[in-house]
Amino acid sequence: MNQYIAAFDQGTTSSRCIIFDHDGHIVAVAQKEHRQFFPQAGWVEHDPEELWLNTREVGAAALAKADVRRQDIAAIGITNQRETTVVWDRETGKAVYNAIVWQDTRTDRLVEELAGDAGVDRYREVTGLPLSTYFAGPKVRWILDNVEGAREKAAAGKLLFGTIDSWLVWKLTGGAGEDGHGPGVHITDVTNASRTMLMNLETLQWDPEICSEFGIPASMLPEIRSSSEVYGHARERGPFAGVPIAGILGDQQAATFGQACLSPGEAKNTYGTGNFLLLNTGSTPVRSEHGLLTTVCYRIGDRPAVYALEGSVAVTGSLVQWLRDNLGMLRTAAEIEDLAASVPDNGGAYIVPAFSGLFAPRWRPDARGVIAGLTRFVEKGHLARAALEATAYQTREVIDAMYADSGVELHTLKVDGGMVVNELLMQFQADILGVPVVRPVVAETTALGAAYAAGLAVGYWSGEDDIRRNWEAQKTWEPTMEHDDRERLFSEWKKAVERTYDWA
Ligand code: G3P
Repeated sequence: MNQYIAAFDQGTTSSRCIIFDHDGHIVAVAQKEHRQFFPQAGWVEHDPEELWLNTREVGAAALAKADVRRQDIAAIGITNQRETTVVWDRETGKAVYNAIVWQDTRTDRLVEELAGDAGVDRYREVTGLPLSTYFAGPKVRWILDNVEGAREKAAAGKLLFGTIDSWLVWKLTGGAGEDGHGPGVHITDVTNASRTMLMNLETLQWDPEICSEFGIPASMLPEIRSSSEVYGHARERGPFAGVPIAGILGDQQAATFGQACLSPGEAKNTYGTGNFLLLNTGSTPVRSEHGLLTTVCYRIGDRPAVYALEGSVAVTGSLVQWLRDNLGMLRTAAEIEDLAASVPDNGGAYIVPAFSGLFAPRWRPDARGVIAGLTRFVEKGHLARAALEATAYQTREVIDAMYADSGVELHTLKVDGGMVVNELLMQFQADILGVPVVRPVVAETTALGAAYAAGLAVGYWSGEDDIRRNWEAQKTWEPTMEHDDRERLFSEWKKAVERTYDWA
């Protein structure tokens, strides 16, 4: 029997390959960062070729580190930064433009036009999403409108669109046939498709009316498949030759799966460049009235899809990077914890990092960041603390919205992602929510979720009980803050947020 599953996690800042064993433990990890392009204010791009090359490289490196052969890999799972958009030529295999990243706001005017008099909720009933620069559909339209010759080629059926999962699967299965294999498989999974604004949440198919209103030809679109089934096999030339590719989940859905949030009412929060809180709502999509997204959580084979309510916060960990890179306040991101611990509280200062406007639950594209409450008393330590607290307050706003939408009260919050090593932040998060925060033993829940999806498809794991059994808590933070202090801090935060409005 094959002994391992390989998961590729192509994220906003890096690409990773992790090899897991049957207990869901990590056998080997390889990782590589890629370049970020900021050609204009608000624009964020990646080079799709670099993402593919890095994925290939980390795959080979992880196999070598684990000291296993491809015959020992039962299946490959893929998880990815969502919404980031690639359009490529099906004959040459070359992207016609850089990947436009989820954080990119260049489509703001287009989005406003599409909203028209109907407003930002024009497509919410069908897609579960408000009109926003965040999603892939408007990014595809931008490429067709702005890259010379793209619209004509698309109309002639020569261009393909995909989120990063589609791009990687197409490349992994042979691409344009550059090396004699191919053409690649052009597919996506339901979770990634649910982030395009082009998919109908109930039928789980592309919505022809929305696609035509966006001006996107159907011939460009990948086939929508479940999150767990065999889609194809890795190309012959490459370290994984012949291994089935059997699982795809958008990274936040993958983390939800990896955290074993498999029953309605279970939720996780991932602390990465942004924060993404997903609550499993079962087999019926719950439409949000409080600024959350309705999204597909996962679909295993031909079983009914499971949905989630999602609170996406654009800037959390990337605020720490900004303090490090733009202000030079830190040498490493990890230093923020000691700096924040050098003072007992925020000294009255609040940072609202509305760098890409505000996402959930406020959806204010006009907002821009502020630092509020400054006095001569405030020093670096207070700002470090305010930056960490901003992550916790934004999470509290999302959880309040989730309660208003679903009536589900959280009893604990499962957390994962890069920032959860920060003990001060985790304690403050428990304090500001008033509920315990729990970190699992395997914090790489995103890759793990993709591995589970792939492993289930090939019978490596027999069912969801295996996933539940593998989940284990590593540390819990209990709330210790007095109720009145919690509410005072949170109301001051909300006052600061209002200062960000009507700026752009
Ligand atoms: O929706 C954006 C999200 O998928 C990005 O996640 O972890 O790559 O920053 P991450």
